[in-house]
Amino acid sequence: MLRSINQSLSRTVFSVPKYLPLAIKHARILCFRHASNNTKPELTSVRYNVQRGPYSKVTDNHVQFFDGLLGQGRVLTDPDECESYNIDWIKMVRGASKVVVKPKTTEEVSAILRYCNENRLAVCPQSGNTGLVGGNVPVFDEIIISMKLMNNIISTDELSGTLVCQAGCILENLEKHLENVNLMMPLDLGAKGSCLIGGCVSTNAGGLRLLRYGNLHGNILGLEAVKANGEVVNCLNTLKKDNTGYHIKHMFIGSEGTLGIVTKVAIQCPPLPKSINVAFLGLKSFENVLKTYKAAKRELGEILSSCELIDKTSLEACTTALGLKNPLDTGSNDYEFYVLLETSGSETHHDEEKFARLLEKLLEEGIISDGTLASEPTKIKNIWTLRESLTQAVMYDGYVFKYDISMPLPEFYKIVEILRERLKDPRIVRIGGYGHLGDGNLHLQVSIPTYAEDIASQLEPFIFEYISKQRGSISAEHGIGFKKTKFLHYSKDKSAIQVMRELKKMMDPNGILNPYKVLDPL
Ligand code: FAD
Ligand code: MLT
Ligand code: ZN
Repeated sequence: MLRSINQSLSRTVFSVPKYLPLAIKHARILCFRHASNNTKPELTSVRYNVQRGPYSKVTDNHVQFFDGLLGQGRVLTDPDECESYNIDWIKMVRGASKVVVKPKTTEEVSAILRYCNENRLAVCPQSGNTGLVGGNVPVFDEIIISMKLMNNIISTDELSGTLVCQAGCILENLEKHLENVNLMMPLDLGAKGSCLIGGCVSTNAGGLRLLRYGNLHGNILGLEAVKANGEVVNCLNTLKKDNTGYHIKHMFIGSEGTLGIVTKVAIQCPPLPKSINVAFLGLKSFENVLKTYKAAKRELGEILSSCELIDKTSLEACTTALGLKNPLDTGSNDYEFYVLLETSGSETHHDEEKFARLLEKLLEEGIISDGTLASEPTKIKNIWTLRESLTQAVMYDGYVFKYDISMPLPEFYKIVEILRERLKDPRIVRIGGYGHLGDGNLHLQVSIPTYAEDIASQLEPFIFEYISKQRGSISAEHGIGFKKTKFLHYSKDKSAIQVMRELKKMMDPNGILNPYKVLDPL
């Protein structure tokens, strides 16, 4: 069982591999293939019995206005063309929008919103449509404002590590651009080939390296946004320090398109690491997972850039549905838990030695049972591909109930075991957990062949009540979107929800911005 780690360790000690972080980055492109299930989800308004708000219906006159403003090809009304904008990537929600508009400039976003506000037309801002909580597609016929064409990079400052760009830039494109000046994006997600930076900012996306670089409230230096009435709010600051009154940018970060549309962002970008190492470890118990994390934090210190957990059930989805290989190569998925550790540093030999020493110690103490330490780009790429494919792999089971929760570490995995005990229904294909262990963020997934309301009601509100009792959060990083509005109070005090309502009223008095999302309509 110790074969792969020992092989890697001896290679590590006797030869210094050539590090190619640029190649690693380019290789980590997740192929976005939809799962085999091609059926459309039921309309959201029907499945969840939602009442349409007091908004106008789109008429030919409205469409003519948009045509005049944006011109040929930037106003979609063909139902077939609109369809992919009406269904989210995980096929959980479906809207019925008849119009998609595609602005290219802040002025165009401003003109669209001013017009919609005056005409009481509801809108749904959409970026890469990879959101996992149903905030990204309309519930009824809201006009979809697609940000895809707002994709210009405005400036890059190598010395201060600052990037300024329009909100519609694809995350991965920004990353490639930054590599040319030895910088990197402070966030990284499996969806990076499709998600747009404005979508990430609007959800305050976390991702795979939050442990090291922190969240977007810290990394977004400034932004520009358009209010519901079309007014442009310019907070496009590029300074690291600026304590001039209220920090308006934070209001837009994570507000999921309900307070304004983010049009430009200024991002603080760390230096590209010179050396990257990744270990993939097999463990027999969750207790050992926690011991591993504790030791990794202590021994690897500032170079630890990721600590991810995958349970056996979730890994099996990848190896069976997608045919990916377990990097431990034992022929089967032998361990209850797998931990992925990554270091990013500036001194190859030093980083690798530190990492190898830690793994040897964990092996000796019987905390890890097997593992592999990779420094070659291909091997690193394979390990990350496996981790980033978990979302897609489970979709092959059929319908997936997804929960994205924050938990105190000792309680981190218990909910998975509780659900396995509680749900003995033969329709259940899989109950698994994985996630950003280092951030206390578990992704819990329950899959069944097709959506079933009786299963949904066994899961909710039970899961949210449980999380609340443990003082966890019902959304660690994906947001509230459409799916969790009714459960917000499990994680937020009513005094705070009241302030959210007041803020919404002030920013968007007619409620045209992404209605039915974040706050449950009263
Ligand atoms: P969308 O899905 O289009 O929109 C998301 C929300 O933001 C919606 O409410 C939308 O109305 C609003 N919005 C979009 N653009 C704007 C704008 N410019 N101004 C105002 N509001 C706007 N999330 C994580 O946090 N961590 C992960 O590790 C992670 N991994 C993922 C892996 C996969 C394979 C997939 C499919 C998703 C993953 N996600 C993850 C979820 C998702 O990718 C993120 O939430 C991402 O930030 C959404 O970006 P997007 O461009 O697709 O936005
Ligand atoms: C992840 O960490 O892989 C994402 O947040 C997506 C998911 O939860 O499926
Ligand atoms: Zn995640």
